[in-house]
Amino acid sequence: MNAFNLAGKTILVTGASSGLGRQTAITASEYGATVVITGRDTNRLNETFAALRGEGHQQFAADLTIQADIDRLVANLPLLNGVVYSTGISDLSPARFISSETIAKTFRISFDASVLLTAALLGKKKLAKNQCSLVFISSISTRYPFVGGAMYISAKAALEAYARVLALELAPKGIRVNCVAPAFVRTPMLDETATNYSQEAVNMIEARQILGLGDPEDVANSIVYYLADASKWVSATSLILGGG
Ligand SMILES: NC(=O)c1ccc[n+]([C@@H]2O[C@H](COP(=O)([O-])OP(=O)(O)OC[C@H]3O[C@@H](n4cnc5c(N)ncnc54)[C@H](OP(=O)(O)O)[C@@H]3O)[C@@H](O)[C@H]2O)c1
Repeated sequence: MNAFNLAGKTILVTGASSGLGRQTAITASEYGATVVITGRDTNRLNETFAALRGEGHQQFAADLTIQADIDRLVANLPLLNGVVYSTGISDLSPARFISSETIAKTFRISFDASVLLTAALLGKKKLAKNQCSLVFISSISTRYPFVGGAMYISAKAALEAYARVLALELAPKGIRVNCVAPAFVRTPMLDETATNYSQEAVNMIEARQILGLGDPEDVANSIVYYLADASKWVSATSLILGGG
Protein backbone atom coordinates (compact mmCIF):
# COMPACT_ATOMS: atom_id res chain seq x y z
CA MET A 1 0.00 0.00 0.00
CA ASN A 2 1.46 3.37 -1.06
CA ALA A 3 0.79 5.81 1.82
CA PHE A 4 0.97 8.74 -0.60
CA ASN A 5 -1.84 7.39 -2.79
CA LEU A 6 -4.98 9.56 -2.75
CA ALA A 7 -7.28 7.01 -4.41
CA GLY A 8 -10.69 6.98 -2.73
CA LYS A 9 -10.23 10.49 -1.33
CA THR A 10 -12.33 13.49 -2.38
CA ILE A 11 -10.47 16.77 -2.10
CA LEU A 12 -11.79 20.35 -2.42
CA VAL A 13 -9.23 22.84 -3.79
CA THR A 14 -9.96 26.58 -3.60
CA GLY A 15 -8.08 29.03 -5.83
CA ALA A 16 -7.92 26.19 -8.35
CA SER A 17 -8.27 28.48 -11.37
CA SER A 18 -4.62 29.55 -11.08
CA GLY A 19 -1.13 28.98 -9.72
CA LEU A 20 -0.65 26.78 -6.68
CA GLY A 21 -4.32 25.76 -6.40
CA ARG A 22 -4.41 24.69 -10.04
CA GLN A 23 -1.22 22.64 -9.73
CA THR A 24 -2.36 21.08 -6.46
CA ALA A 25 -5.65 19.98 -8.02
CA ILE A 26 -3.81 18.44 -10.99
CA THR A 27 -1.18 16.71 -8.84
CA ALA A 28 -3.81 15.38 -6.40
CA SER A 29 -5.73 13.91 -9.35
CA GLU A 30 -2.52 12.29 -10.59
CA TYR A 31 -2.19 10.65 -7.16
CA GLY A 32 -5.70 9.24 -7.60
CA ALA A 33 -7.89 11.79 -5.78
CA THR A 34 -11.34 12.83 -6.93
CA VAL A 35 -11.09 16.60 -6.98
CA VAL A 36 -13.64 19.38 -6.56
CA ILE A 37 -12.21 22.65 -7.82
CA THR A 38 -13.40 26.18 -7.21
CA GLY A 39 -12.38 29.71 -8.21
CA ARG A 40 -14.06 32.75 -9.74
CA ASP A 41 -12.83 32.76 -13.33
CA THR A 42 -14.80 30.08 -15.16
CA ASN A 43 -12.53 30.03 -18.22
CA ARG A 44 -9.43 29.35 -16.16
CA LEU A 45 -11.37 26.92 -13.96
CA ASN A 46 -12.30 25.02 -17.15
CA GLU A 47 -8.61 24.90 -18.12
CA THR A 48 -7.74 23.33 -14.75
CA PHE A 49 -10.64 20.91 -15.05
CA ALA A 50 -9.43 19.78 -18.48
CA ALA A 51 -5.98 19.04 -17.05
CA LEU A 52 -7.26 16.76 -14.24
CA ARG A 53 -6.46 13.07 -14.53
CA GLY A 54 -9.18 10.46 -13.99
CA GLU A 55 -12.94 10.66 -13.71
CA GLY A 56 -15.61 12.02 -11.39
CA HIS A 57 -14.16 15.49 -10.73
CA GLN A 58 -16.43 18.51 -10.24
CA GLN A 59 -16.07 22.27 -10.58
CA PHE A 60 -18.03 25.16 -9.05
CA ALA A 61 -17.45 28.85 -9.66
CA ALA A 62 -17.68 30.86 -6.43
CA ASP A 63 -16.49 34.16 -5.02
CA LEU A 64 -15.43 33.18 -1.51
CA THR A 65 -15.82 36.74 -0.23
CA ILE A 66 -19.59 36.36 -0.73
CA GLN A 67 -21.39 34.32 1.93
CA ALA A 68 -24.16 33.24 -0.49
CA ASP A 69 -21.49 31.79 -2.83
CA ILE A 70 -19.87 29.90 0.06
CA ASP A 71 -23.26 28.50 1.10
CA ARG A 72 -24.12 27.46 -2.47
CA LEU A 73 -20.72 25.82 -2.94
CA VAL A 74 -20.94 23.92 0.34
CA ALA A 75 -24.50 22.76 -0.38
CA ASN A 76 -23.25 21.18 -3.62
CA LEU A 77 -20.24 19.41 -2.12
CA PRO A 78 -19.92 15.69 -1.41
CA LEU A 79 -18.34 14.45 1.86
CA LEU A 80 -14.69 15.57 1.79
CA ASN A 81 -11.45 13.87 2.83
CA GLY A 82 -9.46 17.03 2.40
CA VAL A 83 -9.52 20.74 1.65
CA VAL A 84 -6.67 22.81 0.21
CA TYR A 85 -7.13 26.55 0.75
CA SER A 86 -5.27 28.37 -2.03
CA THR A 87 -7.15 31.63 -2.48
CA GLY A 88 -5.19 34.82 -2.04
CA ILE A 89 -4.21 38.18 -3.40
CA SER A 90 -0.87 39.90 -3.45
CA ASP A 91 -1.28 43.53 -2.50
CA LEU A 92 1.70 45.45 -1.29
CA SER A 93 1.18 48.56 0.80
CA PRO A 94 3.85 50.50 2.68
CA ALA A 95 2.67 51.03 6.28
CA ARG A 96 1.84 54.73 5.86
CA PHE A 97 -0.61 53.98 3.03
CA ILE A 98 -2.62 51.31 4.86
CA SER A 99 -6.28 52.23 5.26
CA SER A 100 -9.28 50.40 6.65
CA GLU A 101 -10.13 49.52 3.03
CA THR A 102 -6.67 47.94 2.51
CA ILE A 103 -7.05 45.89 5.68
CA ALA A 104 -10.56 44.75 4.81
CA LYS A 105 -9.66 43.89 1.21
CA THR A 106 -6.65 41.74 2.13
CA PHE A 107 -8.24 40.00 5.09
CA ARG A 108 -11.52 39.34 3.27
CA ILE A 109 -9.83 37.06 0.76
CA SER A 110 -6.63 35.96 2.53
CA PHE A 111 -8.25 35.18 5.91
CA ASP A 112 -12.04 35.55 6.16
CA ALA A 113 -12.80 33.49 3.03
CA SER A 114 -11.00 30.38 4.31
CA VAL A 115 -12.32 30.76 7.86
CA LEU A 116 -15.93 31.24 6.75
CA LEU A 117 -15.69 28.38 4.25
CA THR A 118 -14.44 26.11 7.05
CA ALA A 119 -17.28 27.18 9.34
CA ALA A 120 -19.79 26.34 6.60
CA LEU A 121 -18.12 22.96 5.88
CA LEU A 122 -18.28 22.08 9.57
CA GLY A 123 -21.83 23.37 9.94
CA LYS A 124 -23.02 21.21 7.03
CA LYS A 125 -20.94 18.19 8.18
CA LYS A 126 -19.00 17.97 4.92
CA LEU A 127 -15.68 16.89 6.50
CA ALA A 128 -15.28 13.12 6.90
CA LYS A 129 -14.56 12.10 10.49
CA ASN A 130 -11.21 10.31 10.99
CA GLN A 131 -10.37 10.67 7.31
CA CYS A 132 -9.90 14.34 6.62
CA SER A 133 -6.97 16.69 6.24
CA LEU A 134 -7.14 20.48 5.86
CA VAL A 135 -4.18 22.32 4.32
CA PHE A 136 -3.83 26.11 4.35
CA ILE A 137 -1.32 27.94 2.17
CA SER A 138 0.47 30.46 4.33
CA SER A 139 3.78 32.09 3.39
CA ILE A 140 7.40 31.99 4.51
CA SER A 141 7.08 35.77 4.86
CA THR A 142 5.46 35.25 8.28
CA ARG A 143 9.03 34.33 9.40
CA TYR A 144 11.07 36.36 6.88
CA PRO A 145 9.03 39.48 6.08
CA PHE A 146 9.46 41.84 3.15
CA VAL A 147 8.95 45.58 2.90
CA GLY A 148 5.39 46.53 1.93
CA GLY A 149 3.96 43.17 2.96
CA ALA A 150 2.41 44.22 6.29
CA MET A 151 -1.19 43.37 5.42
CA TYR A 152 -0.44 40.26 3.34
CA ILE A 153 1.86 38.89 6.04
CA SER A 154 -0.49 39.80 8.90
CA ALA A 155 -3.33 37.94 7.19
CA LYS A 156 -1.09 34.88 6.72
CA ALA A 157 0.05 35.01 10.36
CA ALA A 158 -3.59 35.18 11.44
CA LEU A 159 -4.38 32.20 9.21
CA GLU A 160 -1.59 30.14 10.78
CA ALA A 161 -2.81 31.01 14.28
CA TYR A 162 -6.36 30.07 13.27
CA ALA A 163 -5.13 26.77 11.81
CA ARG A 164 -3.43 25.81 15.08
CA VAL A 165 -6.64 26.39 17.04
CA LEU A 166 -8.62 24.49 14.40
CA ALA A 167 -6.19 21.56 14.72
CA LEU A 168 -6.94 21.44 18.46
CA GLU A 169 -10.70 21.69 18.00
CA LEU A 170 -10.89 19.08 15.23
CA ALA A 171 -8.42 16.53 16.60
CA PRO A 172 -11.22 14.69 18.51
CA LYS A 173 -12.99 14.21 15.15
CA GLY A 174 -9.79 12.82 13.61
CA ILE A 175 -9.51 15.80 11.26
CA ARG A 176 -5.96 17.09 10.78
CA VAL A 177 -5.02 20.70 10.05
CA ASN A 178 -1.67 21.89 8.69
CA CYS A 179 -0.13 24.78 6.77
CA VAL A 180 2.51 25.01 4.10
CA ALA A 181 4.54 28.21 4.08
CA PRO A 182 6.19 28.61 0.68
CA ALA A 183 8.81 31.12 -0.34
CA PHE A 184 8.36 32.71 -3.76
CA VAL A 185 7.07 30.37 -6.45
CA ARG A 186 6.62 31.01 -10.18
CA THR A 187 2.86 31.71 -10.47
CA PRO A 188 0.69 34.54 -11.87
CA MET A 189 0.84 36.06 -8.35
CA LEU A 190 4.60 36.49 -8.69
CA ASP A 191 4.12 38.06 -12.14
CA GLU A 192 1.71 40.50 -10.50
CA THR A 193 4.33 41.36 -7.88
CA ALA A 194 6.83 42.07 -10.66
CA THR A 195 4.30 44.31 -12.43
CA ASN A 196 2.92 46.14 -9.38
CA TYR A 197 6.22 46.44 -7.54
CA SER A 198 9.30 45.89 -9.71
CA GLN A 199 11.18 43.18 -11.55
CA GLU A 200 14.29 44.16 -9.52
CA ALA A 201 12.42 43.29 -6.32
CA VAL A 202 11.60 39.86 -7.75
CA ASN A 203 15.24 39.40 -8.83
CA MET A 204 16.36 40.23 -5.29
CA ILE A 205 13.88 37.71 -3.86
CA GLU A 206 15.17 35.04 -6.24
CA ALA A 207 18.76 35.75 -5.22
CA ARG A 208 17.78 35.40 -1.53
CA GLN A 209 16.37 31.89 -2.06
CA ILE A 210 19.45 29.72 -2.40
CA LEU A 211 17.59 27.09 -4.46
CA GLY A 212 15.99 29.88 -6.52
CA LEU A 213 12.29 30.34 -7.17
CA GLY A 214 10.03 27.36 -6.58
CA ASP A 215 7.78 25.69 -9.12
CA PRO A 216 4.09 25.06 -8.32
CA GLU A 217 4.83 21.31 -8.32
CA ASP A 218 7.20 21.81 -5.36
CA VAL A 219 4.30 23.09 -3.27
CA ALA A 220 1.74 20.63 -4.67
CA ASN A 221 3.90 17.61 -3.80
CA SER A 222 4.19 18.74 -0.17
CA ILE A 223 0.43 19.26 0.00
CA VAL A 224 -0.10 15.72 -1.30
CA TYR A 225 1.93 14.49 1.69
CA TYR A 226 -0.42 16.35 4.07
CA LEU A 227 -3.53 15.05 2.29
CA ALA A 228 -2.31 11.47 2.24
CA ASP A 229 -2.31 8.82 4.95
CA ALA A 230 1.51 9.18 4.98
CA SER A 231 0.96 12.14 7.34
CA LYS A 232 -1.82 10.59 9.45
CA TRP A 233 0.06 11.41 12.69
CA VAL A 234 0.84 15.01 11.70
CA SER A 235 -1.33 17.97 12.69
CA ALA A 236 -0.90 21.62 13.77
CA THR A 237 2.33 22.02 11.81
CA SER A 238 3.53 24.56 9.29
CA LEU A 239 6.03 23.34 6.72
CA ILE A 240 8.45 25.92 5.40
CA LEU A 241 9.12 25.46 1.70
CA GLY A 242 11.93 27.92 1.56
CA GLY A 243 14.05 27.17 -1.45
CA GLY A 244 16.92 26.58 0.96
N1 LIG B 1 3.11 32.37 -5.57
C1 LIG B 1 3.88 32.48 -4.51
O1 LIG B 1 5.07 32.77 -4.61
C2 LIG B 1 3.30 32.22 -3.14
C3 LIG B 1 4.18 32.09 -2.07
C4 LIG B 1 3.66 31.86 -0.80
C5 LIG B 1 2.30 31.76 -0.61
N2 LIG B 1 1.46 31.88 -1.68
C6 LIG B 1 0.02 31.76 -1.42
O2 LIG B 1 -0.51 30.71 -2.19
C7 LIG B 1 -1.87 30.96 -2.51
C8 LIG B 1 -2.05 30.83 -4.01
O3 LIG B 1 -1.21 31.78 -4.65
P1 LIG B 1 -0.92 31.72 -6.21
O4 LIG B 1 0.46 32.17 -6.40
O5 LIG B 1 -1.39 30.45 -6.77
O6 LIG B 1 -1.87 32.93 -6.69
P2 LIG B 1 -2.76 33.11 -8.00
O7 LIG B 1 -2.14 32.37 -9.13
O8 LIG B 1 -2.98 34.57 -8.12
O9 LIG B 1 -4.14 32.39 -7.59
C9 LIG B 1 -4.96 32.93 -6.63
C10 LIG B 1 -6.26 32.17 -6.64
O10 LIG B 1 -7.12 32.77 -5.67
C11 LIG B 1 -8.42 32.88 -6.24
N3 LIG B 1 -9.18 33.97 -5.68
C12 LIG B 1 -8.81 35.27 -5.49
N4 LIG B 1 -9.83 35.98 -4.99
C13 LIG B 1 -10.87 35.12 -4.85
C14 LIG B 1 -12.21 35.24 -4.39
N5 LIG B 1 -12.69 36.42 -3.95
N6 LIG B 1 -13.00 34.15 -4.38
C15 LIG B 1 -12.54 32.95 -4.81
N7 LIG B 1 -11.27 32.76 -5.26
C16 LIG B 1 -10.46 33.84 -5.29
C17 LIG B 1 -8.14 33.15 -7.71
O11 LIG B 1 -9.31 32.81 -8.44
P3 LIG B 1 -9.80 33.65 -9.74
O12 LIG B 1 -8.55 34.06 -10.45
O13 LIG B 1 -10.64 32.67 -10.46
O14 LIG B 1 -10.53 34.82 -9.21
C18 LIG B 1 -6.97 32.22 -7.98
O15 LIG B 1 -7.43 30.94 -8.32
C19 LIG B 1 -2.18 32.38 -1.99
O16 LIG B 1 -2.80 32.26 -0.73
C20 LIG B 1 -0.79 32.98 -1.82
O17 LIG B 1 -0.78 33.97 -0.85
C21 LIG B 1 1.92 32.10 -2.94
